[in-house]
Amino acid sequence: MPETSYLTVKNFDSERYHEVRPSYPQSLINKIMGYHEGPCKELIDIGCGTGISTTLFAKHFEHAVGLDPSESMLTVAKEKYPELDFESIGGEELTAKGIKKESMDMVIGAEALHWCDLDKAFNEINQVLRSSGTFAFWFYVQPEFIELGRAAHDLYVKYCWTDEYMGKYLTEYQRNFFTTFGGTDINGKFAKYGFKDIYHEIVNEFKDDGTLFTNKTEPSFLMKGEINLNDFKKFVQSWSLYTSWVRDHPDEPDIADKFISEFQEQCHVKSMTEPLKIEWATFYYMCRK
Ligand SMILES: C[S@@+](CC[C@H](N)C(=O)[O-])C[C@H]1O[C@@H](n2cnc3c(N)ncnc32)[C@H](O)[C@@H]1O
Repeated sequence: MPETSYLTVKNFDSERYHEVRPSYPQSLINKIMGYHEGPCKELIDIGCGTGISTTLFAKHFEHAVGLDPSESMLTVAKEKYPELDFESIGGEELTAKGIKKESMDMVIGAEALHWCDLDKAFNEINQVLRSSGTFAFWFYVQPEFIELGRAAHDLYVKYCWTDEYMGKYLTEYQRNFFTTFGGTDINGKFAKYGFKDIYHEIVNEFKDDGTLFTNKTEPSFLMKGEINLNDFKKFVQSWSLYTSWVRDHPDEPDIADKFISEFQEQCHVKSMTEPLKIEWATFYYMCRK
């Protein structure tokens, strides 16, 4: 498994994660449920974290279980959603930890699959899905500050994706996975592990000329709203990358403060409470066994 502070930092702040991370739009859930064929009995949510994604799908299935190897995330998940089941299982160890082959109608993964060894996880997911069962996973990549344009985009890239700052905690594979909206070899992986009927959407991919590209006219995974810099800072502080940085740079000023003050200055944001319009860059994939 790639190393992440969700697992390696004992007191990762999962409460804060739950408070500040966005949920997912009903249009995405409708799209995935509309794609799904056959019974809706069993679902597992890989990398369920605090259960934000599990709860959205649980109402559509007779039995839904959130799986995550992080005890700290699972503690919060069980507290927030006592009516749901959660188990300590990583995406690469489904069958080894007792999930039966061909037993799942749907497997989902929200903002999580990049923490798995993708080859192992795809192989495991294919094994536990029934014939024609659905595998869907999705990601928000980054917020695009639509009135601030390139300066805001580039600062985010600098602090989140590059080796200079918090991006140094990502592997080259993970960075490629996010910045190419699924990875240049993703279709090869679907084919290799026996998935078919691939469908995907990309929303708000930032292009070099400063425009945002979306490959569907009415995207199902559009996340938009307003955020002020105080809340944006809390979002940055909920990253596993941030936790790793703080662990390794205990004597330096808070990296989130540095990021946000540079952001405020370079993007000419008047105050920390000024609402800023954002649209998230997102993508998702659906396929069948
Ligand atoms: C960004 S969170 C996503 C949580 C949740 N799905 C959501 O939408 O908020 C990523 C999660 O992946 C989990 N994770 C890390 N390594 C994993 C692995 N090998 N298999 C499954 N999940 C993993 C982390 O513990 C963390 O809870």
